[in-house]
Amino acid sequence: MTDGAVSRAVRADAAVVAEGLRKRFKDTVALKGVDLRVEWGTIFALLGPNGAGKTTAIRILTTILSPDGGRAQVAGFDVVSEPAEVRYRIGLAGQAAAVDANLTGRENLRLIGRLAQLPGRLVAPRAVELLERFGLQDAADRPVRTYSGGMRRRLDVAAALVQRPPILFLDEPTTGLDPQSRNDLWTTIRELVAQGTSVVLTTQYLEEADRLAGRVAVVDRGLVIAEGTPAELKSRMGSTVIELGLGDEERAIRSVELLSRLDRAQPERDASMVRLTSHDGPRLLAEVLRALDAEGLAPVTISVREPSLDDVFLALTGHHAEGAIEAADTRPTQAAS
Ligand SMILES: Nc1ncnc2c1ncn2[C@@H]1O[C@H](COP(=O)(O)OP(=O)(O)OP(=O)(O)O)[C@@H](O)[C@H]1O
Ligand SMILES: [Mg+2]
Repeated sequence: MTDGAVSRAVRADAAVVAEGLRKRFKDTVALKGVDLRVEWGTIFALLGPNGAGKTTAIRILTTILSPDGGRAQVAGFDVVSEPAEVRYRIGLAGQAAAVDANLTGRENLRLIGRLAQLPGRLVAPRAVELLERFGLQDAADRPVRTYSGGMRRRLDVAAALVQRPPILFLDEPTTGLDPQSRNDLWTTIRELVAQGTSVVLTTQYLEEADRLAGRVAVVDRGLVIAEGTPAELKSRMGSTVIELGLGDEERAIRSVELLSRLDRAQPERDASMVRLTSHDGPRLLAEVLRALDAEGLAPVTISVREPSLDDVFLALTGHHAEGAIEAADTRPTQAAS
């Protein structure tokens, strides 16, 4: 960063280190003791459903909220005792748009540059550079209220980059975007990381965490319930997921009873579907089909696939990551493992 970007020294071997972060809002315990470590130059995803505590964690790490307990360092500076040092080194695109809808895209970026005390001669070129990078040149001089949702989101992320921060926080950067815009934003995020930026993002999308992040922390009800590379998380599940459609719930319930007696099978039911995971899929499938057929419970559909992060989430929490709110009250106490 030789062109007048804010280039203050960082003093840490990791971009973000958090230990035991706790936060309560009246009756709601939003964070129950969260540990995180984000290496420099990587993409780290906080993956979790609505209300998991993702935004609360981001707010604490970006010095907007103070924690009730625990500690966190960003770029080596303490978020509570050295907030200004942290702020110099981060960009944040929050969950709600921070740009002014009555200004144009260009005006917004220039305003942020001036507020960030970027040297005057750099303000206009930085805005142009970011408008180009995010494909907003053609809309640059239109008020933001005329932008599509995807364009606004891109401008938001662009705004977080005006200071060229070494660490970028993105709270649900692609929520509400169509697949094409999501892919474009993923590409841009990867380019930033290739150029040395460290990114902490939150997402409810398993695919996003899988495709984009080097490491993922699965967050549920204020706790990190699993952490690792996407491949590590998925390999906990076994190598194969077998899904059987039994046609109706009654047959599915009977199938689960029957299959529970098989040695290696731990069947789970979701309406008329039965799901099994295994490290030895083909052999288990053969066994399962024989057992079901003998009882007149031959499945109407069979699928065999690799585990997804949603399977991991379901196994860990007893509910799906997406749309988890409805499932929250039916959570089993503790899944057998
Ligand atoms: N300012 C606040 N006052 C009261 N409760 C809050 C406040 N902020 C968050 N909460 C509560 O804390 C919990 C965690 O909220 P948080 O916004 O961190 O979740 P999230 O994972 O970001 O969810 P989403 O995916 O919906 O954005 C929720 O139960 C939420 O209602
Ligand atoms: Mg949130």
